[in-house]
Amino acid sequence: MAIANQLKALLKSHVDGDNRMFLSIAMQMAAHEAKQGHGLLAKEIRELIDQAKSQRSSAGLIATPLVKPKGELNNLLSVTYPKVRLNDMVLSLSIETRLNRLIKEHQSVQKLRSHGLAPRKKLLLVGPPGTGKTLTASVLAGELGLPLFTVRIDSLMTKYMGETAGKLRLIFDAIQQTRGVYLFDEFDSIGSQRSDSNDVGEVRRVLNSFLQMIEEDSSDSLLIAATNHYELLDHALFRRFDDLIEYELPEKNEIISTLKSKLAAFQTTRIQWSKAAEAATQLSYGDITRVCEDAIKDAIIYDRESVTHSNLIHSIKERCAVRQKQL
Ligand SMILES: Nc1ncnc2c1ncn2[C@@H]1O[C@H](COP(=O)(O)OP(=O)(O)OP(=O)(O)O)[C@@H](O)[C@H]1O
Ligand SMILES: [Mg+2]
Repeated sequence: MAIANQLKALLKSHVDGDNRMFLSIAMQMAAHEAKQGHGLLAKEIRELIDQAKSQRSSAGLIATPLVKPKGELNNLLSVTYPKVRLNDMVLSLSIETRLNRLIKEHQSVQKLRSHGLAPRKKLLLVGPPGTGKTLTASVLAGELGLPLFTVRIDSLMTKYMGETAGKLRLIFDAIQQTRGVYLFDEFDSIGSQRSDSNDVGEVRRVLNSFLQMIEEDSSDSLLIAATNHYELLDHALFRRFDDLIEYELPEKNEIISTLKSKLAAFQTTRIQWSKAAEAATQLSYGDITRVCEDAIKDAIIYDRESVTHSNLIHSIKERCAVRQKQL
């Protein structure tokens, strides 16, 4: 009967994402089999456990089982398991270098810790809409094989501000307990030095508890805050972050790379890239992605294998007109 309970406990630890418990129960099962005289089976189980442990340490990462926030946390965090990688993004050399450094540091977390050092782990991303801040959080999760937890700012910042500090505590406990990439998108709604609320004192208290929690955080998780409104942030925040990355609208070469990569599945021999890029100046990466999707849809609907220059220019002009209206 022991083995049935062990099997149940093994499954439960898997469902809970508790890897350490999983391996410890597997060890107990090996011991149980050895006692029953099943030496070979016991040996095989032990070898599999050793293999699992060595794979984790050689990758420098703890394999992350699927996890799902429970209870109140479920309202505060949404989880995804992104597969996007750094080379899915078009990046300036300086941003690419900094993201690569961050990834390397996290891949070498154990090595760094053994020398009393910690990886960069608190990142502030600023820049206009559609420039890749949210995508960067997904890419970092994808590269590191970690879950991406996005904080639901609307659930966090309810009108009952008094509750917000308690909710933040829950999030920071999760950051400590479950290694992952934690994204505070639209961060200015927490980190703003000004407030539309009447209760300025309460907003200040929330910001102060946030500052304190970031400072005290000693987890192996990656904490990312993203905002379009750098100018609204309280200055006390800046020194709490290890790195500040500024995103910008793409330049001509970056526009061409983005167009080429998003249209890669179609024939594009007749497209004059330079002219298309000039027409798309001032558009964001997000806009260019939509331009390409519009042009692709058109090709699909009319059974064409290629995206033509005139169709692409037409989509670009349409998107520029939408942008103009929004200004
Ligand atoms: N650097 C990039 N390279 C390739 N594609 C990109 C890049 N940046 C953005 N995109 C595309 O644009 C879409 C929107 O980008 P994203 O959501 O990351 O922008 P954002 O900076 O978070 O904008 P917002 O400030 O509005 O939240 C992405 O899903 C992706 O398709
Ligand atoms: Mg975003």
